[in-house]
Amino acid sequence: MAGLVRIPSLKTVADFRNHVASLGIELPCEDQVAAGNASPLAQPISGATINAKRIGNRWAIQPMEGWDGTTTGGATDEVRRRWQRFGESGAKLIYGGEAMAVRPDGRANPNQLVITGQNKKDLAELREILIRAHKERYGSTDDLVIGFQLTHSGRFCKPNDKFRMEPRVAFRHPILDKKFNVTGDGQVWTDSEVEQLIECYVAAAKIAWDVGADFVDIKHCHGYLLHEFLGAHTRPGKYGGSFENRTGILREIVEGIRASGNRIEIGVRFSAFDLIPFKPDPALSQPGKLGPGIPEDFSHCLPYRYGFGVNANNPVEYDLTETFQFADLCAQLGVKILNVSAGSPYYNPHIQRPAAYPPSDGYQPPEDPLVGVARQINVVRQIAERVKSLNRLTVQPEKAGADSTIQRSNDSTGGLILVGSAYSYLQEYLPHVAQYVVRNGWTDMIGLGRMTLAYPTMLADSVEKGVLEKKFICRTFSDCTTAPRNGLISGCYPLDKYYAAKPEFQKLKEIKKSVGA
Ligand SMILES: Cc1cc2nc3c(=O)[nH]c(=O)nc-3n(C[C@H](O)[C@H](O)[C@H](O)COP(=O)(O)O)c2cc1C
Ligand code: SF4
Repeated sequence: MAGLVRIPSLKTVADFRNHVASLGIELPCEDQVAAGNASPLAQPISGATINAKRIGNRWAIQPMEGWDGTTTGGATDEVRRRWQRFGESGAKLIYGGEAMAVRPDGRANPNQLVITGQNKKDLAELREILIRAHKERYGSTDDLVIGFQLTHSGRFCKPNDKFRMEPRVAFRHPILDKKFNVTGDGQVWTDSEVEQLIECYVAAAKIAWDVGADFVDIKHCHGYLLHEFLGAHTRPGKYGGSFENRTGILREIVEGIRASGNRIEIGVRFSAFDLIPFKPDPALSQPGKLGPGIPEDFSHCLPYRYGFGVNANNPVEYDLTETFQFADLCAQLGVKILNVSAGSPYYNPHIQRPAAYPPSDGYQPPEDPLVGVARQINVVRQIAERVKSLNRLTVQPEKAGADSTIQRSNDSTGGLILVGSAYSYLQEYLPHVAQYVVRNGWTDMIGLGRMTLAYPTMLADSVEKGVLEKKFICRTFSDCTTAPRNGLISGCYPLDKYYAAKPEFQKLKEIKKSVGA
């Protein structure tokens, strides 16, 4: 984006606020980084427990798919190192370290973890590593909650070869089919295949429980399979059409887990809204320079009945009608943690993962990335208001002093803990915004994705010392996305010395140069 104001150029909170005001968005923040007990981020979640544990603070490590396991879905030293760093982060809610495929053909890459009986030992070891690292640095693990994200990659499957797509989809899509090599109806799941898949989720949840996970997250986001089913308006049969049918897979997975006698807790991560796929503007792209993102032509597919949380008549806008219904459904099903994300990193990355620099298969930002951050924060806020009658957890502003306590804003039953996403682009101002939104009940927890890869202890430093180590702050270079899109392992190449020392570092540099990312 021409003239993008870089966050490091905003030297004070006042500068940040002025810039936010110039964008016309609502993105409040606090003046000071609060340390110790005065920080709303240091407060445990009260009023809801996960596997009889109270989550000990207000930041979470988001699930992040790995590209560095064995080809049979087991752990390697790289995976072990990442889980160790997640443990060291100080976060008291950790989504394992990453998404795990419930069966081998559901992998997004041939080196993704697979949650099968064969890999039980490795998964148990990863959990141990994480817990040990956390214990060494922070003492207690009684308030540390660990979940595994269960997934099938659907349209984005590449289970056998890093460069060969093997998509399996919920329905034929007028724009995405071409991009992801969907050429025939044989790639659409039949209802009986879906039933078998549901059994794989139930079996995976049992393995998760056996190896000590506190919860499983049933991934419904980012265009992966179960997210696609939420938008399967055009699909015939029992898993398509009505809202009830499109959410049938979640209901059946939850019922299956409960019917099997498994007491594991359940979370759901979903894309709360979506937009039409974007592409680089061909008129403004040059060899070696991606153009700014523009929406794909959708004139031939109106009303747009191919997504969830998107306005069918104008799919460059979101529509939260079903988003709210979905949150209600999760509460009714006894889902305990609702993790809110958006869109897809494959077809509209700017709404999912706001960044200053695009991944190699993306486009230059079509808007100031702060607009994307604010969009997600404000949607989570609306969901929080919606579920207030179920169970909301807020810090009372007047009490946020040394003896501050988190109090429930009402006493009704239910119990959805909300995790917000897409904070990393805030960089220096992440703690300032995070404090505000938690203190004011806009979300219960701050989920950290990319920032964790670059600077795992960012919020621990903020809460313990009130200061950050600037050299580790994620600058949203997108290398952690560009690398795997080009068959390399993921990681924070620019800031984590471990990757800078690897041969992949040079390869990535060449790839970025050739595409202009
Ligand atoms: C390398 C990488 C892998 C990711 N893999 C997953 C995943 O497997 N499951 C998921 O729900 N989100 C995944 N995400 C999305 C993040 O969890 C997060 O929502 C996103 O990066 C935006 O948050 P951030 O601004 O803190 O990075 C991934 C993100 C990155 C950068
Ligand atoms: S590569 Fe590092 S700095 Fe770049 S977006 Fe990923 S985590 Fe952030």
